[in-house]
Amino acid sequence: MDLQAFFRRYSAIFETKPIAKLMECTGGVHGLKKVLSPFELTLLGIGAIIGTGIFVITGVVAANYSGPALVVSFIISGIVCAFAALSYAEFAAMVPVAGSAYTYGYASLGEIWAWIIGWDLILEYSVSIAAVAVGWSGYMVNLLTAAGIILPPGLVNPPGTSGGLVNLPAILIILAITALLIIGVKESARVNNVIVLVKIGVILLFLFLAYSHINPANWTPFMPYGWTGVVTGAAIVFFAYIGFDAVSTAAEEVQDPRKNVPIGILSSLVVATVLYIAVSAVLTGIVPYLAFKNTSAPVAFALGAIGISWGSALVSVGAICGITSVLIVLLYGQTRIFFAMSRDGLLPGVFRELHPVYRTPVKVTLLVGLVTALIASLLPLQTIAELVNIGTLAAFIIVSLGVIVLRRTRPEIERPFRCPFVPWVPLLCIISCGILIVMLPFVTHLRFVIWLAIGLVVYFAYSRHHSRLHEDTAGLGCWGTEGGEKGGD
Ligand code: ALA
Repeated sequence: MDLQAFFRRYSAIFETKPIAKLMECTGGVHGLKKVLSPFELTLLGIGAIIGTGIFVITGVVAANYSGPALVVSFIISGIVCAFAALSYAEFAAMVPVAGSAYTYGYASLGEIWAWIIGWDLILEYSVSIAAVAVGWSGYMVNLLTAAGIILPPGLVNPPGTSGGLVNLPAILIILAITALLIIGVKESARVNNVIVLVKIGVILLFLFLAYSHINPANWTPFMPYGWTGVVTGAAIVFFAYIGFDAVSTAAEEVQDPRKNVPIGILSSLVVATVLYIAVSAVLTGIVPYLAFKNTSAPVAFALGAIGISWGSALVSVGAICGITSVLIVLLYGQTRIFFAMSRDGLLPGVFRELHPVYRTPVKVTLLVGLVTALIASLLPLQTIAELVNIGTLAAFIIVSLGVIVLRRTRPEIERPFRCPFVPWVPLLCIISCGILIVMLPFVTHLRFVIWLAIGLVVYFAYSRHHSRLHEDTAGLGCWGTEGGEKGGD
């Protein structure tokens, strides 16, 4: 192959997908139902964000990395997420199509980048569903133990931990939510609304009960592990913020998405950040940070430690509800990413088939449920959470880059929401995410690179040859049964 032919062949992988073409696939009989209101979307966001991060991971981070400066770690991570959220909001308003960062990458940077980000999101979502299910299982086992029901260690721990064989509660909760999502998103959104309100309620109850027990002596020394500890802590508690991007994966199912998706993203992030700052300040104020070393339920533990055991039990119930809603949104988001990638031909057609009655992607939902249940049943929380963070940070970097690029290449496109101070805000996002990635362990970097390498092999072996970028999808129907049955998949 001469050099020119080589470049012609490979320049196709950097081709972008026109926004009009992305939009032509939404709506109509083959589309997902537009059922979510802005309030429900905000609750969906809060439902996705507040969970294992605040209820479980705070304890480990306070004891080992941040100390009482846990609140500073939360503020740092919150600022990084705010930068990213502004870029997400700009894209989500401009391209309200299922697929989130993957779709934005396709519109702004080209197919290969879209693939990388989509592949990265598959990792982020699958692994975080597993991590969150493990956190759920921990609180459930705690609560059952407090009620005198002791489950055998072999059935509640992963292999290699405390005599574990399989984490059965983690499997069961994932399968239950898989069934719920198959029934349909509106029903799931209703369940989610109730759960989120309970979750916010128990957090406010915790703050109310614990506030008067704050002993400022517990805040000294404020940074026992120095700034390195605080920033490493920020890279880990970052997990607690993951989920606001899931709001954008629901864009096709939202009423008036151009207005409501930015509202959903930004307001859910603001609510979560305020609650995190308050909880982390109070948590480290009522109990010395080292006391959190050996607990998997720090918020309930702290209330127990100051003698309010009824509050502790109630918070455990709320945490279980709260973590459940995170699972709903993450599982939902994962299936929609597969859906969007399959619609573009980069994944086989089975990933976009909708059930004729439920109009939900049943097969892919089942697949995601089974795979994540398997991961959750076998791996410990710590290992999984770090991998999630690196995937999400990488997605934030690519989305921010996409905002800068698209402002230059397509300045004329209507942007119902504009990220302020471009390119500075996206650039700050890129730099700060880069710093947090550096703070994660080397083995996490290595796992991430291996995952991306596998992704590139899949892209060049399958996806590039099945891309539907040049097909006239408008006449075909964009997905659903026709798309799913098409040959070549
Ligand atoms: N932010 C989500 C949680 O903390 C993933 O559970």
